[in-house]
Amino acid sequence: MIAKFDRFSYIALSMPERASSRQIFQDSCDVIPGGVNSPTRAFPGLDMTPLIAARGFGAVVFDADDHCYIDYCCSWGALILGHVHPAVVKAATDQMQMGAGFGMATAVELLMAQKIRSHLPSIEKIRFVSSGTEATMSAIRVARGYTGKDKIVKFEGHYHGHSDGLLIKAGSAAIQINPEASSKGVPSDFVRHTVCLPFNDLKTVRDYIRSHDDIAGVIIEPIAGNMGLVPSDPDFLQMLREETEKKGIVLIFDEVISGFRIGLQGAQGYFQITPDLTCLGKIIGAGFPAAAFGGKAAIMDHLAPLGEVYQAGTLSGHPVVMRAGLACLETLEQPGFYEELEKKTTTLAEALRQMMHDNKIVGCVNQIGSMFTPFFGAPEVRHKITLDQQLYCKFFKHLFQQGIYIAPSPYEANFVSSAHTDEQIERTCQVFLKSFS
Ligand SMILES: Cc1ncc(COP(=O)(O)O)c(C=O)c1O
Repeated sequence: MIAKFDRFSYIALSMPERASSRQIFQDSCDVIPGGVNSPTRAFPGLDMTPLIAARGFGAVVFDADDHCYIDYCCSWGALILGHVHPAVVKAATDQMQMGAGFGMATAVELLMAQKIRSHLPSIEKIRFVSSGTEATMSAIRVARGYTGKDKIVKFEGHYHGHSDGLLIKAGSAAIQINPEASSKGVPSDFVRHTVCLPFNDLKTVRDYIRSHDDIAGVIIEPIAGNMGLVPSDPDFLQMLREETEKKGIVLIFDEVISGFRIGLQGAQGYFQITPDLTCLGKIIGAGFPAAAFGGKAAIMDHLAPLGEVYQAGTLSGHPVVMRAGLACLETLEQPGFYEELEKKTTTLAEALRQMMHDNKIVGCVNQIGSMFTPFFGAPEVRHKITLDQQLYCKFFKHLFQQGIYIAPSPYEANFVSSAHTDEQIERTCQVFLKSFS
């Protein structure tokens, strides 16, 4: 039976049993390592059957047992319009009627490139790929090809996908595997050219850049979302821009999360700082696998077929994905879109702060635009820290039982979509406030 979503369904469906979900997960574990195709989906550290998604609608997702959850994961930020937004569905299905893919250039790739450039003028030229991992890996390759240097600087707790050279002290699920090396299977030779520096530590980073002449690029999440939400200090970003510029180092903004999330100009618009290269993902695919990297033409023109930096992809710029992405970006252009999202998110963040205050919990809530993270165990978070995992688990489980789905790890960001209704936000606040009572 398909449960109809109404304002009572959260309560009616708050999960006594999740038999189908358990069975699917058990069977998946038999054939897929850990039962999942990306580690955080397994709910590491939570000791419970993960959410097995069956379908979504607007701001809610239904599991395999037809329980309904208000979704603050939103496909890790990709679904800024919520599930099955009509404009996205129409665009994708229209394109499907014309061919799912060609492996040839198409007009929609041009439209998408022009649309992105119209909002992010730092991107003079862009190339589409299929995942954020590919985008950052390719941006680094072109930075190295352009500068003729090898070293890459990244920051502790920042996650740029799972390519070998970037898996050092990484964020996201990698934090929980090994906070130092991030992954077995990455030869130390492969990370020899990656240096990981403390985030938001202006002096240490400035001294390092000033005293090294072998740096090809600095890659940063200007609004970090993979150790929980932790924005850069504006002074820190400004320093990075000035110091890299002086030395001809390529400054790469990884805006896979923040791109089109923090407004049409992303983090670079928010901080008014222009990077040399930008990586995008998530929202530009509207839930489909799309990502991109782009920036100064003088750098991007080093890519094949113009230059000698090789980069390619069978499904890159996939027409169905481009069509859906374009429809999504056009929807974001509606006046007041981001203001409305931020307003809802501020309401949630305030309720979380109230809950911490009422229960005398040491913690804080970071929020920027429509992203937020409650941090348990720290009064302020400006860089990667160890959090109170136990308290977070308790909080998560309470919410889950009440039909609210937040990130299943304290080291992640949560996202609000335009599909979240005022009623859903209010319901969520009520559950937040009662979570430890
Ligand atoms: C900032 C950032 N960069 C890169 C990636 C990698 O993207 P993907 O998972 O699409 O490979 C992620 C994934 O969450 C991310 O958050």
